Amino acid sequence: MSEVDLLDRYPRTTRDIAARAAAVLAQREVAQRFAREYFDGDRGQGYGGYRYDGRWVPVAERIRDYYGLRAGDRVLDVGCAKGFLLHDLRHVVRGLCVVGLDISAYALSHAMEDVRGRLVLGSADRLPFADKTFDLVVSINTVHNLDRAECVRALAEMERVGCRHRYVQVDSWLTERQREKFERWQLTARTYSDPDGWRRLFAEAGYTGDYYWTVTE
Ligand SMILES: C[S@@+](CC[C@H](N)C(=O)[O-])C[C@H]1O[C@@H](n2cnc3c(N)ncnc32)[C@H](O)[C@@H]1O
Repeated sequence: MSEVDLLDRYPRTTRDIAARAAAVLAQREVAQRFAREYFDGDRGQGYGGYRYDGRWVPVAERIRDYYGLRAGDRVLDVGCAKGFLLHDLRHVVRGLCVVGLDISAYALSHAMEDVRGRLVLGSADRLPFADKTFDLVVSINTVHNLDRAECVRALAEMERVGCRHRYVQVDSWLTERQREKFERWQLTARTYSDPDGWRRLFAEAGYTGDYYWTVTE
């Protein structure tokens, strides 16, 4: 179990915190449906256009190198959205077997064609896979969208269906200023904490995988 930033090659985006901070409750409710408005609507209620642009390629390479992924290994992405990371993992590790799961029917039906048939509609806290199915289970910026009890179950599920490696990335902060920015920026998170709180939650779930934080700058 290590604290390791596997998104350290993911490009940093500039966030207009002031504009987002004005998000009204109604916009948060829309975002939390994880439908078209969240992915491809305006920036006030989500991504403002979730399109493939290759930015996950260096992350896929980092994950491949860190875990020594090889042809034949099985990887699950929990909260895979449109499958960008899985698409790139397949390109950087030929012969990798990838599976994705997401709660958004919209994202899955707009997923990249080469992975669409490998994606499953479902919730992170009830993974429809047998114990120890995957060599690597990753979940990036997803399990914090569940309420606390569901989030604990989701982490326990990652533990159950994985057999070698696990990596989770969740919203957190390292300074009080970052906490304030996060609370003004975020639309969908239901469970969030400083790193110590997350480590306690990981222990409660029996989660033994690697982890890192998404910090609002
Ligand atoms: C911030 S996006 C992250 C997507 C992708 N992992 C990435 O980093 O670009 C959060 C994703 O979690 C999905 N999600 C939210 N609640 C979920 C749940 N209970 N089970 C599975 N996926 C969920 C959303 O549909 C969305 O695709």
